[in-house]
Amino acid sequence: MSEAILYEREGSIAVLKAQNPPVNALGVEVRKGLLAGIERAEQEGAKAVLIYGEGRTYFAGADIREFGKPPQEPSLPDLCNRIEASPLLVVSSMHGTALGGGLEVALSSHYRVAVPSAKMGLPEVNLGILPGAGGTQRLPRLAGTEAALEMITSGRHVSAAEALEKGIVDRVVDGDPREIGLSYARELLEKGAARRAVGEMPAPEAVDFDAAYAAVLKKGRGQLSPATAVRAVQAAAEAGSFEEGLKRERALFMELMDSDQRQGLIHAFFAERAVSKLPELEGVSPRDVASVGVIGGGTMGAGIATAVLLAGLPVVLIEMTEDAVAAARGRIEGNLRGALKRGKISEAQFSELTGAALTVSTDYTALAQVDLVVEAVFEDMDVKREVFGKLDSHCKPGAVLATNTSYLDVDEIAAATSRPQDVIGLHFFSPAHVMKLLEVVVAEKTAPEVLATGFALGKRLKKVAVRSGICDGFIGNRIMNAYRKAAEYVVLDGASPYQVDEVVRGFGFPMGPFEMGDLAGLDINWAARKRRAPTRDPRERVPRFYEMLCEGGDFGQKTGKGFYIYEAGQRGGVPNPEVAELIARDQAQQGVTPREFSDAEVLRRYMCAMVNEAAKVVGEGIARRPLDVDMVMLFGYGFPRFWGGPLKWADLQGLDGILADIRAYAAEDDFFWQPAPLLEQLVADGRRFDDLNKAD
Ligand code: 3HC
Ligand code: NAI
Repeated sequence: MSEAILYEREGSIAVLKAQNPPVNALGVEVRKGLLAGIERAEQEGAKAVLIYGEGRTYFAGADIREFGKPPQEPSLPDLCNRIEASPLLVVSSMHGTALGGGLEVALSSHYRVAVPSAKMGLPEVNLGILPGAGGTQRLPRLAGTEAALEMITSGRHVSAAEALEKGIVDRVVDGDPREIGLSYARELLEKGAARRAVGEMPAPEAVDFDAAYAAVLKKGRGQLSPATAVRAVQAAAEAGSFEEGLKRERALFMELMDSDQRQGLIHAFFAERAVSKLPELEGVSPRDVASVGVIGGGTMGAGIATAVLLAGLPVVLIEMTEDAVAAARGRIEGNLRGALKRGKISEAQFSELTGAALTVSTDYTALAQVDLVVEAVFEDMDVKREVFGKLDSHCKPGAVLATNTSYLDVDEIAAATSRPQDVIGLHFFSPAHVMKLLEVVVAEKTAPEVLATGFALGKRLKKVAVRSGICDGFIGNRIMNAYRKAAEYVVLDGASPYQVDEVVRGFGFPMGPFEMGDLAGLDINWAARKRRAPTRDPRERVPRFYEMLCEGGDFGQKTGKGFYIYEAGQRGGVPNPEVAELIARDQAQQGVTPREFSDAEVLRRYMCAMVNEAAKVVGEGIARRPLDVDMVMLFGYGFPRFWGGPLKWADLQGLDGILADIRAYAAEDDFFWQPAPLLEQLVADGRRFDDLNKAD
């Protein structure tokens, strides 16, 4: 008997207890154990079977680590069918999370009971696949087609109460999963309840599946798995029999299993969990953080304060003047009112968070007791150094002093204090209470427990924290600057900004680079360009149309005009016709003869620039692993999750082809298109970026 499933008898009931920590994933040993348990129960003459999980949860799904490897018997679909076909009464008792294959095992059972805190769902589409063990056939038979489509295409977890309402569980009872399962099974036996196989229930009603397919594909920006899942649910309604529906589900499942998107999404799943596991943090305890200071209550400071308050920590925010104090408080209250409106906090919490939990002052002495401070004042080294000097004299020993700078040198900021070991970069993204990414920037003298504290704060704020070394723009902004330049070059050479935006959206980004510029404010980037101009390498090509637009006072959405024109009350903008004139003038001044670019070439250049810079960032040790870059781009820059990140995408495309294209582009501009040494090395060695993820 498999050790992953313990077989026990309670009178006429055979009890199958899953013990495969941490989440009782349905790996091969668990499947073998369940099959053997059902067979033994039948041979021994038991009358019913109870299935439940030990520890945190019922089964959280198939074992994702087995994907892409040779299949091992029994397969999950066969197991589910075998459970359903058993002549004994099979009861599942759920607690924790019954997800994916886990819920499918429950749906194959004849009766289902759950504790009130249990959550269940079919989240397979988030891994690039679809429920492949009968979930797309059984769930609509129980919950109806519309409800099943919604749950399966969103991957949403539903509460036990909602599952009861939808008919997915038969009963919700508080208590120990074993005990409530046993008492339900006994009750069913006593009243002589019949076996009840979901597969034998009538086919669910048909809906307009083509419309559902199109809507889901559009919503997923090209992600295939949710749309394909619609076709599987369609089979439940239209295949003619349960068995035919299962066959169709299997075929669609295998199609997705072989897709690049499945590889991208599984990479994202594991990378999201691996990103905070750094060898240098092993055994290092973070410092306690019970209160947080924030310096500057502008866009970022207010967002950071909001995030910290929502995580349950009190905030002391320092501003320059009484007016600025009032403005900062107003911004934070506005953010929190948004959270209140969306039901994230109650009225009482709103009052608490804007009352006792928040102090806003002009007086640095208010910071005497805080455990960690995040500075978010103007992006100016002199101002930052002055602020850190004050923090040094007002904060208690051991307080972590963090800067939210986007580009400035954290070592130089740390040198303004007598305690550089306590200084770190915590680079949030705007809006800071919404965006999931946090770059934790390690300066030369940052102490390991200060780094650990940065990661612990990230976790507390429910952010994805990524370690970054120091360079101009850290991981994310540095890479963004490179692909934004590539976008400007193709425009200077003849593509239109609107073609670029459309191509980039077509890849799966929510926005293209020119729309993004309009949203963020073109003046911000203009200022950075002016700052860099004096030290710019003379070999660098410099498109001018961007500056020309700014010189005319058009900064994007905030002025109503940029690359696009924004009408009040309209969502999005329409192309600004003046832009074409500016580009033509720029081309004439620079002696460029514009040419046509295919959409494929626009995308290729954009992505090659991204991958090349990302490879430099990894090669220089700014990012520790390729997966760190991938997570930065996913959580901070809207990179489509279904490609896993730029370096996973690069692996899937083939690194040799990318390098060959970069070398070909270098024939036109060998300053911008300098291949990353790491990329050249990997191609020479026949290795991939993912090999570096596995190195430690
Ligand atoms: N397979 C393998 N490992 C898994 C796993 C799975 N299905 N689910 C979680 N794990 C691992 C995690 O990688 C992590 O490992 P680590 O400690 O080495 O990093 C560990 O279990 C704990 O997971 P979390 O850190 O995520 O723990 P949480 O408590 O935060 O979350 C969870 C628990 C909600 C279950 C979350 O892990 C989760 O969402 N898991 C995936 C669930 C899922 O997608 N199931 C469907 C699988 S596909 C399927 O079933 C196909 C079928 O239809 C044929
Ligand atoms: P902002 O201009 O909106 O806010 C800055 C605030 O700091 C102002 O309210 C100002 O009154 C206050 N301030 C200035 N000097 C001060 C001092 N000595 N003491 C107390 N308060 C002071 O700027 P924003 O956009 O919030 O940026 C702040 C920092 O965050 C910058 O370093 C910026 O580079 C960085 N950042 C900005 C992002 C963005 O998207 N806006 C994203 C990530 C980082």
